[in-house]
Amino acid sequence: MPQTVKAVIARSKGAPVELVNIVVPDPGPGEAVVKIRACGVCHTDLHYREGGINDDYPFLLGHEAAGVVEAVGDGVTEVAPGDYVVLNWRAVCGQCRACAKGKPWYCFATQNATQKMTLAEGDPDAGRELSPALGIGAFAEKTLVAAGQCTKVDARAEPEVAGLLGCGVMAGLGAAINTGNVGRGDSVAVIGCGGVGTASVVGARLAGANRIIAVDRDQRKLDQALELGATDTILADAGTDVVARIQELTDGFGADVVIDAVGRPETFTQAFRARDLAGTAVLVGVPTPEMTWEVPLLDVFGHGGAVKSSWYGDCLPSRDFPMLIDLYLQGRLPLDAFVTETIGITDVEAAFEKMHHGDVLRSVVLID
Ligand SMILES: NC(=O)c1ccc[n+]([C@@H]2O[C@H](COP(=O)([O-])OP(=O)(O)OC[C@H]3O[C@@H](n4cnc5c(N)ncnc54)[C@H](O)[C@@H]3O)[C@@H](O)[C@H]2O)c1
Ligand SMILES: [Zn+2]
Ligand SMILES: [Zn+2]
Repeated sequence: MPQTVKAVIARSKGAPVELVNIVVPDPGPGEAVVKIRACGVCHTDLHYREGGINDDYPFLLGHEAAGVVEAVGDGVTEVAPGDYVVLNWRAVCGQCRACAKGKPWYCFATQNATQKMTLAEGDPDAGRELSPALGIGAFAEKTLVAAGQCTKVDARAEPEVAGLLGCGVMAGLGAAINTGNVGRGDSVAVIGCGGVGTASVVGARLAGANRIIAVDRDQRKLDQALELGATDTILADAGTDVVARIQELTDGFGADVVIDAVGRPETFTQAFRARDLAGTAVLVGVPTPEMTWEVPLLDVFGHGGAVKSSWYGDCLPSRDFPMLIDLYLQGRLPLDAFVTETIGITDVEAAFEKMHHGDVLRSVVLID
């Protein structure tokens, strides 16, 4: 029987989010229904609400979640009812050209549920199909996903912590560890220390970087980054030459890896220029459609190295989520430090406001 559950949607561009009733179908072949326990508020949810991703309203928001599988459809073998899972937006297909080349973290045909969740009876748009954020939609009591989007992890990790790996924290950790390929003795600078950038700081430390420079416009973010492993900070206020400061802190050369966790032309230019020769600039912040980036081609050539983007931290959920949860449980990865507050499902709009003002690394919605 399809179920009616409460969920948070963005109905139209820029409008405040709403708590509504939605219909979740029974899982079909290859699908799973997951009872959500916790779901973090990510900047990408706000991008969706503001029309920065696409115009496929109404969006079912929320995509950094942990929960328990309630039911699975025909042919599902990877998970079973009762499994404790983190939801991912990279259910690899195993068949596309990236998967065939042995690089499934680039999978070009990632899987989502085939059936649609819809707005319930009584809603002004009853019956209308929802677009789940990143194919997940987890500010909801239950959601429908492809079974491959469920990654089993150790149930001793609390849902508000485990769920963070579902998006921003994984993206930040992976931007350093996977995309930036940070290694022992590297210098790393991270521009923008929200949930994503701070995770890059933590990832750089985990990977053995010995100089980790945190850059943000907000001193509170820098203080947190220092607690979590940054060795130096740069307050990027109007008068600060961020590139020159990063160079000063790296013997005049620039950092081996510079990660832009803001995603704007000016911050990516800083990342591009603050690298050492042959260094790597990583774009993990998500730009909006109108943004362009212009740089003299000779500078690209002359600087050497790599300019890379990091989708989801180039993670492979089946490989990375259980490993990172193990490190957390061993006390080697401070995932809990990212949970600034736990909130209710009615508090998402307020959480956007706090994110906007830089008050939080992550607000996490708890759902009973
Ligand atoms: N690539 C991916 O797969 C992926 C996954 C999740 C999120 N993201 C993106 O990463 C970005 C960051 O997400 P978040 O959740 O950490 O957001 P956030 O709002 O919590 O953090 C952004 C931080 O950047 C700082 N900042 C803004 N402008 C700055 C500037 N000019 N110089 C220095 N610091 C500046 C802010 O003070 C804030 O601390 C967003 O664009 C989000 O969409 C990407
Ligand atoms: Zn694939
Ligand atoms: Zn996200």
